[in-house]
Amino acid sequence: MGDQVKLNAGGTEFDYPVLKGSVGPDVIDIRKLYAQTGKFTYDPGFTSTASCESALTYIDGDEGVLLHRGYPIGQLAENSSFMETSYLLLNGELPSADELATFENTITRHTMLHEQLANFYRGFRRDAHPMAIMCGVVGALSAFYHDSTDISDPEHRKISSHRLIAKMPTIAAAAYKYSVGQPFVYPDNKLSYTGNFLRMTFGVPAEEYEVVPAVEKAMDRIFILHADHEQNASTSTVRLAGSSGANPFACIAAGIACLWGPAHGGANEAALNMLKEIGTPDKIPHYIERAKDKNDPFRLMGFGHRVYKNYDPRATVMQKTVREVFDALKVTDPLFETALRLEEIALNDPYFVEKKLFPNVDFYSGIILSAIGFPTTMFTALFALARTVGWVAQWNEMISDPGQKIGRPRQLYTGPTQRDFVPIGQR
Ligand code: SDX
Repeated sequence: MGDQVKLNAGGTEFDYPVLKGSVGPDVIDIRKLYAQTGKFTYDPGFTSTASCESALTYIDGDEGVLLHRGYPIGQLAENSSFMETSYLLLNGELPSADELATFENTITRHTMLHEQLANFYRGFRRDAHPMAIMCGVVGALSAFYHDSTDISDPEHRKISSHRLIAKMPTIAAAAYKYSVGQPFVYPDNKLSYTGNFLRMTFGVPAEEYEVVPAVEKAMDRIFILHADHEQNASTSTVRLAGSSGANPFACIAAGIACLWGPAHGGANEAALNMLKEIGTPDKIPHYIERAKDKNDPFRLMGFGHRVYKNYDPRATVMQKTVREVFDALKVTDPLFETALRLEEIALNDPYFVEKKLFPNVDFYSGIILSAIGFPTTMFTALFALARTVGWVAQWNEMISDPGQKIGRPRQLYTGPTQRDFVPIGQR
């Protein structure tokens, strides 16, 4: 008999099995709790709740560890490519050279969009937020691929996953082009996944576009850092949407919608806007005090994390990448100095130390993306582009689980108990 925990409910003792993973906290299997005790658990933010079993990504928030299929994010960021990391997340092992070449070739040949999709953009205002466009266009993809939405068919799941990974850069680049009134640039199959994205975003039909290798490498590394992150809000949204049997395009559109929030993926846009509002380092103390003031809704965007109570390992890589991009582009940005100073002050302030608030993945990314030329409104769209591989990998893991069932949480009801209708004349 494995480990168990005892619960005394109403004078009766119940045993619940403790399940062990390969690493990380054990879980108490309470699937029988309601049937046996008539009681629910209560955990609104899921701070103590494991919603699923997964073999994709492991985070140790106290140690600042992030593993994808066992490989540390620092090693992947240093040695891998986004395509190789995508293959790893989808298939569980690093690919051979031939496997990687085949995978990249498959993705490359799905980067074009159905020509009708271009019409969807024209329905938006030019100043539409790119995330609004991403939600709409990605959700609409399900209207174009009836040939691959049988989610019980592994081949359909595979082609849908490849289409989503392949088309997100084209969709995101088109959202940017639409906002600046430039023509869409078609994919170029000779380029890498990330080089292709940079050309579709910043290239124009009027001249050749040269991909800057250092920028391509930095962008690719940023995609790796955003690829997957356990059961965060948007991934949980994708899983819950997928649990009803919804098609993968609709599920990813739901994930994009959730990621948009400033507490989640929208933090990269909010963090740079915050740095712009702070401006110079001398203004930092004022904003630190605001962040500590319970009556002030202001928070330091790009700081804090539900899981990391030590440094976010992605922020470490991101900070290093800032300097590489600045050197490559021979630019600098006074906001980087402000960011470094803000981090230094915050990490020495008792409030942030006590609450374990460190820079997260979103704190520095905006400075890099801004240096490369992206407007702040594109930052979360880039996060969605990269996280799509994590979303589809998690979705595939869930759908292929034979024990999978629709997710349907219960509640603690605090509304009125039953009462009779009162005709309007008697109210
Ligand atoms: C991402 O989940 C993931 O894995 C997400 C992500 C991924 O890859 O998918 O890592 C991507 O979303 C990163 C997080 C980006 N968000 C931000 O940078 C927004 C700013 N940070 C937060 O709002 C907040 O830190 C969260 C949402 C990230 C985490 O919130 P929690 O875990 O619910 O913690 P909390 O809000 O309860 O905060 C704990 C305490 C509170 O103080 P008390 O009520 O206990 O007195 O810390 C304070 C908060 O007020 N606090 C902050 C703060 N974040 C938390 N105070 C000032 N500035 C902040 N940024």
